[in-house]
Amino acid sequence: MLNLNLEQLQQHATPLYVYDMNMLRQTLQNAQQEAGKYNFHVHYALKANANTPILNEMRQHGFGADCVSGNEVKAAIENGFTPQEVVFAGVGKSDDEINYALDQQIFCFNCESKHELEVLNELAEKKDTIARVALRINPNVNANTHKYITTGLEENKFGINAWELDSVIELLQQLKHIKLIGIHFHIGSQITDLTVFKNLCTRVNEFQEWFMAHNIRLEHLNVGGGLGVDYYHPEQNPIPDFAAYFGLFNQFLELRPGQQVHFELGRSLVAQCGTLISKVLYIKNGISTNFAILDAGMTELIRPALYQSYHKIVNLTSQKPEVRYDVVGPICESSDCFGKAVMLPETNRGDLIAIRTAGAYGEVMASAYNLRTKAEAIYV
Ligand code: LLP
Repeated sequence: MLNLNLEQLQQHATPLYVYDMNMLRQTLQNAQQEAGKYNFHVHYALKANANTPILNEMRQHGFGADCVSGNEVKAAIENGFTPQEVVFAGVGKSDDEINYALDQQIFCFNCESKHELEVLNELAEKKDTIARVALRINPNVNANTHKYITTGLEENKFGINAWELDSVIELLQQLKHIKLIGIHFHIGSQITDLTVFKNLCTRVNEFQEWFMAHNIRLEHLNVGGGLGVDYYHPEQNPIPDFAAYFGLFNQFLELRPGQQVHFELGRSLVAQCGTLISKVLYIKNGISTNFAILDAGMTELIRPALYQSYHKIVNLTSQKPEVRYDVVGPICESSDCFGKAVMLPETNRGDLIAIRTAGAYGEVMASAYNLRTKAEAIYV
């Protein structure tokens, strides 16, 4: 159950991000315990939430860092992750970002194209260093999730396609400042059907065979992130089934002796510990439903507007009989809506509303659109 103290909340201005650190710790302990059974390495995907207190917990629980920008690499290192625990992915790494990561001697660049390999080699040569690389391969596996967060299909911009691998291997023979240490996959996010990961394992095994046939031994397999959370039942089901998730990879990935397996989890580690707290500004009559107009909007949590995603909405201060509302924000966009036809206890100006499961891809995706003030975050 979420640890929210109403009196404590009422002392803060809204909108407000609240992070339940006990919830976070329980989640991280569970994930590490299950991954540890198989000696799997988990890198926390900073893109989900890069607040310092969250990063501290990740580090203290033994997670590495998965970064997708130079600033994320910097944030990881400044928050105490050692460069040897940092992986760096992204289809469009700039020269500055690559140079910074080379200077830090990070563990691995997840490279997404032949062109990127050439540039990385050139920049590493100038520094007279060697870049460790995992090839991000697009496995053409359907993640069965929202199309904006599907990344492992050939039509997506991510990764190197299977039909390019011959030429990549040829190219790598000429790139003297690159050391191939592994292969990397990430097929999408908010994946709740575990058979999708089984399909991924099958593809990874096939790629392994291909590399073996080319006399290339891979030290590292990185299978990315993507494990989903239960947005509908955050109270009943706050911790994802890490046992089933890691168990599945243990069962279906065919490992060679000494090979290490890496994961890049974001959402599943931080989504449930975060809640967006907002105050009701106005109630306004609509045609079939009334509008509850909040002081939080798509500027604090863009997921419903961008992916039509569901977040559970709770009125923390009213116990009256339920009424139907369209719960909307104050931003000048019709997509600024947290939920349509939501049943809530009769809601009035000043009521506190909790929008659950906002710890991942909430605060990090906040914007200043409409010149909004950045909302405060507290850790309880
Ligand atoms: N690794 C790579 C290369 C990624 O691109 C991502 C997420 C992850 C790992 C972590 O995936 P996770 O475990 O969090 O699913 N803003 C969207 C999600 C975008 C995910 C982007 N990549 C949302 O709010 O649903």
